[in-house]
Amino acid sequence: MRTQAQGGRPRPARRFVPVIQLLAMLAAPAALAQGAQQGAQLFTQRCASCHTAGEGDRVGPDLRGVLDRRDEAWVTRFIQSPGALIDSGDPVASELLKKFNGIRMPDQSLNDTERANLFAFFRECTAKGGSACKPSAAAKMGTDATPEEVALGRRLFEGGEPLANGGPACIGCHDVRGIGVAGGGTLGPNLTFTFAKQGERGIRPLLAKLDTPLMRELYAKAPLTEEEQYAVKAYLADASRDGSKPRKDKDFFFLGVVGLLAALGFIGIVWGPRGKDPHHP
Ligand code: HEC
Ligand code: HEC
Repeated sequence: MRTQAQGGRPRPARRFVPVIQLLAMLAAPAALAQGAQQGAQLFTQRCASCHTAGEGDRVGPDLRGVLDRRDEAWVTRFIQSPGALIDSGDPVASELLKKFNGIRMPDQSLNDTERANLFAFFRECTAKGGSACKPSAAAKMGTDATPEEVALGRRLFEGGEPLANGGPACIGCHDVRGIGVAGGGTLGPNLTFTFAKQGERGIRPLLAKLDTPLMRELYAKAPLTEEEQYAVKAYLADASRDGSKPRKDKDFFFLGVVGLLAALGFIGIVWGPRGKDPHHP
């Protein structure tokens, strides 16, 4: 869209933008806005062990619609310190404590942004239900994947299954340990330990954008879908931790370096102090 606008007819293009945005919104009714998406993630990580959003009470109450049944200031105070509110004799809090078997929700320290995101998520979930109450597929932790998800990621990576938006398979430029005799391409870095190095936080935006000088050209118009991002992440997470051995030659090289460092360290420790401190036995 932007390229068209830059192409020389800014006026008509501009007039079309809202229509197209509207169409996009209609096409993807469950897509969460940025803040709500981060809120959904935070909910999964910090609250979902005790709460659902739309799937009924668990250890604590179902939080779908919580901002409709309570006032926002109350919810803010409650999340910050449920105990303080209960002890202050607040009738609603005391009622909840009774209803939920005397289990006290632990204090949750959220900063203003986190709380705003979380509330955005609650509102979206309340208004739309369904998938608006679930974090996006890509937000799930790579290490929580099922074997099927890992296998799908591998097929996508190797091109056994085509990418939905038509992007090229990753194997053309990247190798991953255990990928097969021929191995992957070497134009890009080997990705075996990318997940281990980048972690969940680092790899998520990498896969969402593939925004490096070489890859941008290929994937800007053919991004991975959220499900594909998740599957590839799961595959890379699995590759990072799977126990299979790296190639022998690398093993020996590694041992060689470690051996050399150990030897130097040994000499340093054994000979160093003696030379400097002649009084020491
Ligand atoms: C260890 C379990 C646990 C965790 C984790 C937890 N809660 Fe709770 N929550 C409860 C329980 C139990 C209650 C019911 C009140 C009570 O007994 O303290 C509750 C009540 C609430 C209420 C009041 C609901 C209502 O109907 O008025 C809100 C809001 C809430 N929790 C938000 C959160 C948020 C947001 C998080 C994550 C940042 C969170 N809770 C994490 C257990 C938990
Ligand atoms: C045309 C070659 C090419 C293809 C195809 C390609 N990549 Fe890349 N990729 C690169 C290059 C080259 C780099 C290094 C950064 C740069 O110079 O752009 C890179 C970097 C990366 C990185 C960052 C690695 C790090 O440790 O920082 C990730 C993650 C990645 N690619 C994932 C993928 C995935 C997933 C696919 C398939 C959907 C893919 N790449 C397809 C060439 C490619």
